[in-house]
Amino acid sequence: MQVLSKTGLGLIVAVLFACSGDEGNGPGVGDGVDPQTQRWYGPQQVEMGRQVFADNCALCHGNAAQGLHEDWRQRLADGSFPPPPLNGSAHAWHHPLSVLLQVINEGGVPLGGQMPGFAEQLDEEQKLAAIAFFQNFWSDEIYANWQQMGGTN
Ligand code: HEC
Repeated sequence: MQVLSKTGLGLIVAVLFACSGDEGNGPGVGDGVDPQTQRWYGPQQVEMGRQVFADNCALCHGNAAQGLHEDWRQRLADGSFPPPPLNGSAHAWHHPLSVLLQVINEGGVPLGGQMPGFAEQLDEEQKLAAIAFFQNFWSDEIYANWQQMGGTN
């Protein structure tokens, strides 16, 4: 019984939240914030992002976006930079949402990097979910710093 009502409530919150994102403010984000966390994404985006990330990103960035190389600032044998952690320990938080989306769309190749672009492979919702997934590892302090750097702009 309790489980049922909790699920029902979660559903209502999810629907409300999804609607609040439909206003078209910024790249598909809206001006809604999750009432619990004060972040731009909600738990259902994190859940969707977990799968998107596992299928498309974890190979290079690690399952928990922790990075797979000891030092992301140290060039690899071929002269390229390793995929950095996206969990808040490197500098993904320097980039506002629009730039994070651009990196995912175009990859790093136009900037002389190694990451492939996902413009055709993923839809907007999946890309945003992947970002929500790795941002969910960020501390409130890192998230606040990101907002200072432009945040959802
Ligand atoms: C083939 C390996 C590879 C895959 C797969 C990959 N990346 Fe990357 N990613 C990189 C590398 C390497 C960089 C560093 C820039 C470069 O060399 O292109 C990077 C950089 C980034 C950055 C910029 C981080 C920063 O600190 O500036 C973001 C954000 C990012 N990746 C997100 C993703 C997401 C989300 C996915 C899945 C949809 C993904 N990447 C898939 C290799 C990869």
